[in-house]
Amino acid sequence: EKAGFEHFMLKEIYEQPKAYRDTMMGRLSDDGRSVQLKEIGMTPDQIKSIRNVHIVACGTAYHAGLVGKSVIENLTRIPVETDVASEYRYRSPIITPETLVIVVSQSGETADTLAALREAKRCGARVLAITNVVGSSVSREADDVMITQAGPEIAVASTKAYTSQLIAFYLLGLYLADSLGTRDSEWIAEVLEAMQQLPEQVESLLSQSNVLKQVAESLAKHDNLFFIGRGTDFAVAQEGSLKLKEISYIHSEAYAAGELKHGTLALIEEGIPVIALITQEDLYEKTLSNIKEVKARGAHVLGIVNGGSEIEVGKSVDELFAIPKTLPLLTPALSVVPLQLIAYYASLARGNDVDKPRNLAKSVTVE
Ligand code: M6R
Repeated sequence: EKAGFEHFMLKEIYEQPKAYRDTMMGRLSDDGRSVQLKEIGMTPDQIKSIRNVHIVACGTAYHAGLVGKSVIENLTRIPVETDVASEYRYRSPIITPETLVIVVSQSGETADTLAALREAKRCGARVLAITNVVGSSVSREADDVMITQAGPEIAVASTKAYTSQLIAFYLLGLYLADSLGTRDSEWIAEVLEAMQQLPEQVESLLSQSNVLKQVAESLAKHDNLFFIGRGTDFAVAQEGSLKLKEISYIHSEAYAAGELKHGTLALIEEGIPVIALITQEDLYEKTLSNIKEVKARGAHVLGIVNGGSEIEVGKSVDELFAIPKTLPLLTPALSVVPLQLIAYYASLARGNDVDKPRNLAKSVTVE
């Protein structure tokens, strides 16, 4: 059932190209230039009446929601807040009937996420669920349901569910932007064209797993490391850090690159590994200056860049890994893949039970 892979996690990482294709399938027009989401029952008038969006989820699904916030805000200019469900449900969030609440859950059974959904409905909000499991509690109780077609995810560490959630957010963001007229159809068609290249681009990333295995084996000798990034790179940094902690048990922190000098820089000392995500052209200069700050204190920096910027960034880092070139909006769907592989190989190098990390369950159905 592991189809020749040593672990479910590795199998699921390799299933991502298929998960991307399957999640897009049936959701594009015949000419591939626009998004159609038949599962969304909101009328154009209902979409126009959305005043704000709350995205609520736990763990990795929350990290997908952080990217979702940036996608929806960027494409529609509707204000979006992303919260962890265990905080949201107890902070008496301001939910009105004009709020669209998006809950994200691979399993559709996470207790806190389900409770947040119920709270949102009680306040009269419309709830849209992004989930991987048809018939799950979340899918039965939400008003609209987008199923991520990732297929069953067995490993505790979520991989293909996360990236399929990103695809769902891109499709949703484009759909809303089209309905609201905040983006023109030519621009939308260009993004969709780039999205359709993602599966092959993931395949090409996967073919470089040997390089990442070596990186992971040297990281596995450390007890602490940092991930840094800005914007969506920061969101992906948080997911990379969680993945690494969860299965390798190496302590790591993800920091918004610009926040370092407000405290965390004190922890940077000789030889400490820093993984810097630097895929957003408009933020290059800023992140590069943060990379210089950590390097000046002896950090060993691995830079993850969007294809084409190798020369520009290469001078400032110790090691470089380039993802295939894609639009800045879409880089999370590629840049997370090397981080998944680094976590996997670091866990392997440490002799851990990759698929069943200590203290954790696949689905958290109690508070
Ligand atoms: O099934 P869900 O998506 O609701 O699960 C949420 C989290 O428990 C889950 O993503 C967890 O963080 C993963 N083990 C991370 O890899």
